Amino acid sequence: MTYVLEGIDLVKVYKTGEVETVALRGVTIRVSPGEFVAIVGPSGSGKTTLLNLLGTLDKPTSGIVIIDGINVTLLPERKLIPIRRKKIGFVFQFHHLIPVLTAVENVELPMLIAGVPRKERRARALKLLEAVGLKGKENRYPHQLSGGEQQRVAVARALANNPKIVLADEPTGNLDSVNSERIAELFKRLKEEFGTAFVVSTHDPIVYERADRRVYIRDGKIIKED
Ligand SMILES: Nc1ncnc2c1ncn2[C@@H]1O[C@H](COP(=O)(O)OP(=O)(O)OP(=O)(O)O)[C@@H](O)[C@H]1O
Ligand SMILES: [Mg+2]
Repeated sequence: MTYVLEGIDLVKVYKTGEVETVALRGVTIRVSPGEFVAIVGPSGSGKTTLLNLLGTLDKPTSGIVIIDGINVTLLPERKLIPIRRKKIGFVFQFHHLIPVLTAVENVELPMLIAGVPRKERRARALKLLEAVGLKGKENRYPHQLSGGEQQRVAVARALANNPKIVLADEPTGNLDSVNSERIAELFKRLKEEFGTAFVVSTHDPIVYERADRRVYIRDGKIIKED
């Protein structure tokens, strides 16, 4: 069995001055290609910390992160940047769309950074917006879209460079149930269509009920999987 993403024995201790917070106490998680995994747990249980470590946005205090067969744990930032760019798409609770760019321009941005030629960029961005159900709204600015639509633009943007892994932190945290369901169904469909693995932190049953697997964490430890 080959995994697209592995976090092994992850420990994370945050230090704020003299105070130490143990956010993760030895978490091991392995994700297969095209798998939709939900990380479920109460506030403060370590979900964001885990996603940050898996996405190489932060380093573990101890433990190992392997992305698509590459042990990235000790790589310096300059080597992490291209790995992140090519292999991982991020979706955050507050989508972080750029307000002065239209929907299609927001989706194009990661491709621009990756050096994809203009025509190809535009064609792919339009295709992705269609895939997330936003055909006809490509030229709107974020403020001209609903919260759910903005979140779908963020999902399309996360897929821009055809990553093997999408990490989403509470992607439905600020959405109503109808839009949450759209996003969750979208993950299911996109994983089938593009073979992308989704690792999604959530307390939302609408999302975790649609996942292939649920990993429950509490106080920085996995307490159950199903
Ligand atoms: N940068 C930081 N510095 C110090 N402590 C932190 C930092 N980030 C998180 N923590 C602490 O680590 C623990 C886990 O936080 P984390 O953000 O991973 O939880 P979470 O499960 O994502 O919570 P939520 O559901 O509220 O987003 C908490 O006790 C939190 O206070
Ligand atoms: Mg969080």
